[in-house]
Amino acid sequence: MSQDTLKRSAAAAALDYIESRLTRQSVVGIGTGSTANFFIDGLARIRHKFDAAVASSEASAQRLAGYGIPVLDLNAAPSLCVYVDGADEVDPERCLTKGGGGALTREKIVAASSEEFVCIVDESKLVERLGRFPLPVEVVPMARGLAARALLRLGGSPEWRQGFTTDNGNIILDVHGLHINDPLTLEAEINNIVGVVCNGLFAANRADRVLIAGPGGVRRM
Ligand code: A5P
Repeated sequence: MSQDTLKRSAAAAALDYIESRLTRQSVVGIGTGSTANFFIDGLARIRHKFDAAVASSEASAQRLAGYGIPVLDLNAAPSLCVYVDGADEVDPERCLTKGGGGALTREKIVAASSEEFVCIVDESKLVERLGRFPLPVEVVPMARGLAARALLRLGGSPEWRQGFTTDNGNIILDVHGLHINDPLTLEAEINNIVGVVCNGLFAANRADRVLIAGPGGVRRM
């Protein structure tokens, strides 16, 4: 079974889960990436059951708009019933690494604004401990060196994602080799580095529900 087939199954399970909770007034928070794209494609089929969406990236906003789904600015949205997004890694406590697509800051903002965060993954994303996937950190461009030195002191090896600019006009440092024993503490420590906008650890705002697709079907964490 291909990874795309599994991602599509996870997205379908999220649609099943949220569908009965939607009303004509509901605003849905939308993630970024290939799994979130499958979710958007499915959401288009139940377009008549909710009001609008808030997107965590320009790419997702464009995909939603392509289906005729109204995309609201977060500040204009009354409330978000749910946020649905993929992840790069998921640990047994539902802490995540995100930001492989570089949209981590807006993803964290929309997730934090939503009543519930439903994470959809194929089972290759499950890990016992976060850190195998390099941790994306969004940094204000002029602080690149300053932030990189601070990340080195935390035990990581930061690598500048060259040629990439976030939707917020910033750069990404992908930090390799971190030993993430305590995601909640490390998330706060990295956020405390001057020049860091946000990092891809989702521990303070971890997923409320994880839907994991494997060859035997979709299970819930
Ligand atoms: C985007 O910035 C990321 O946080 C994605 O959610 C994450 O990289 C998962 O992407 P895929 O669904 O494409 O694997």
